Amino acid sequence: MAISVRRATAEDLDQLRAQQARPELGLVDKHFEAQQAGSLIFAVAFNDDKPIGTALLDLESEEYNPELRNMYVYPSARRLGAGRALSEFIEDEAKAAGYTAVYLAVDPNNEKAVPLYVSLEYHPTGEHIFVEDPEIPQVEEGIEHSKHYAVYKKSLTVR
Ligand SMILES: CC(C)(COP(=O)(O)OP(=O)(O)OC[C@H]1O[C@@H](n2cnc3c(N)ncnc32)[C@H](O)[C@@H]1OP(=O)(O)O)[C@@H](O)C(=O)NCCC(=O)NCCS
Repeated sequence: MAISVRRATAEDLDQLRAQQARPELGLVDKHFEAQQAGSLIFAVAFNDDKPIGTALLDLESEEYNPELRNMYVYPSARRLGAGRALSEFIEDEAKAAGYTAVYLAVDPNNEKAVPLYVSLEYHPTGEHIFVEDPEIPQVEEGIEHSKHYAVYKKSLTVR
């Protein structure tokens, strides 16, 4: 097993489309176009040659910029280190682009993601954003999602 992360390329799109949680939203294509336009970085994690998860670095986030968004590791590939590898890739990209911090917003009821981010030294800022109806809920079916996502920040100047 060898996990690697790089930016999505046009050749990856068919495989990524096949894994979309909500194909009707066409998010893979939207995110790839946005990457081409320079407004975000679309990161893909691979186990050998097989994609196992994706994440975005939004470079045009309104309030908290740049923002780590849409982190998603395919259920069959969880707990192998892909979430950590995606986060670290995103942080390296943000640093290379000259940013001194990365932000994210996480559902406080997300019992998988909160420990991931805390272990990577993201800290709650105390701010929250109101999320009435998330495109893709962060929590599993059966767990109630919070309408207030907590904002976390990681300084990139200490690494
Ligand atoms: C959250 C998510 C991205 C984690 O991805 P992953 O590849 O399984 O995470 P990793 O294997 O890199 O885990 C790194 C660390 O995160 C924490 N972690 C990950 N999954 C966890 C879980 N289910 N319970 C508790 N801690 C967890 C642990 O500290 C873990 O380190 P360890 O395995 O050495 O104990 C994945 O579960 C997922 O896609 N969930 C659904 C979508 C989502 O919630 N996205 C986040 C939106 S903010």
